[in-house]
Amino acid sequence: MLLRTPRTVAAHTPWRILARSHSSHSTPPSFAPGATTSADTEIPYGDAAHASSAYLPRKAGAPPLTAEEQRATTEAPPLTPEQKRVIERIIRVDQAGELGANYIYFGQHAVLSRGKDKRSADLVQAMWDGEKKHIAAFDKLITQHEVRPTALYPLWKAMAFGLGAGTALMGKRAAMACTEAVETVIGEHYNEQLDQLKKDMPDHPSIPLLEKVLTEFRDDELEHLDTAVANESQQAPAYSLLSAVIAGGCRLAIAATSRV
Ligand SMILES: [Fe+2]
Ligand SMILES: [Fe+2]
Repeated sequence: MLLRTPRTVAAHTPWRILARSHSSHSTPPSFAPGATTSADTEIPYGDAAHASSAYLPRKAGAPPLTAEEQRATTEAPPLTPEQKRVIERIIRVDQAGELGANYIYFGQHAVLSRGKDKRSADLVQAMWDGEKKHIAAFDKLITQHEVRPTALYPLWKAMAFGLGAGTALMGKRAAMACTEAVETVIGEHYNEQLDQLKKDMPDHPSIPLLEKVLTEFRDDELEHLDTAVANESQQAPAYSLLSAVIAGGCRLAIAATSRV
C-alpha cells in the first residue's frame, strides 16, 4: 500500500500559491485576530466547546492546544491515493461551499440591512456569523491537507452574492427559501462526507478531528435550515420552483467544484 509520511505543512507549496491567486488577498489568512478569510470576512474566535476551535484563534485565557491537537491541526496524514482523492474532494468542495454561503448571506444582508425589516437583517447576520467560522476553519484545512482549492472562487463569489441579493430583493420569505434550499443540500452533503470518512482512513488524529468539524458544521447548517423554515421560507412566492432551482444549482456547483 502506498503511504505518504506525515509532515508539517510547508510554507510555499504550489497549492498555497494557487489559493492566494484565487483570493482577493495578497497573503493567505494568518489566523491572527483581525486577519481575514478567503471570503473576505474577519476570522472569528473559536468557542472552546466546539471542535472547530482547534482551527480558530483562541481567546485570551483559553487553554493552549495539546500536543495531540497540534498534530491534528498541522500535519497532513499519510494517505493512499484513494484516501487522498476522498479527502481532497471533501475539503475542496466544502471550502468552496462555505465561501459561497458567506457570499449568499453577504448578498442577503446587503439588501435587507437597507430596508425596514431589521429583524430579518439581524437573522441573516447571525447565520452569516456562523459561516465565518466555517470558512475560516476550511481555509486552514485546505492548507493543512495540501488541497488544491477550486479554480472557481471568483465565479462562486459572484453567483452566490447574486443569489443572496436577488432572493432578498424578492422579499424576506424568498431569502429564507434560499437559505432553506441551500442548507438542505449542504446538510445532506456533509452527511455523505461523514459516511465516506468512516471507510478506510488512516489512524491519524486529523481524521477524527475532521469528522468532528464536519459534524459540528452539519449541525450548524441544519440550525440555519430550521431558522429559515421558522421564518416562513415555505410561504415564499413560487416556493417550490425557487427551492428546486436553487437546490439544483447547489448540486451542480458541488459537482463542478469537485472536478475544477
Ligand atoms: Fe456553512
Ligand atoms: Fe449555513
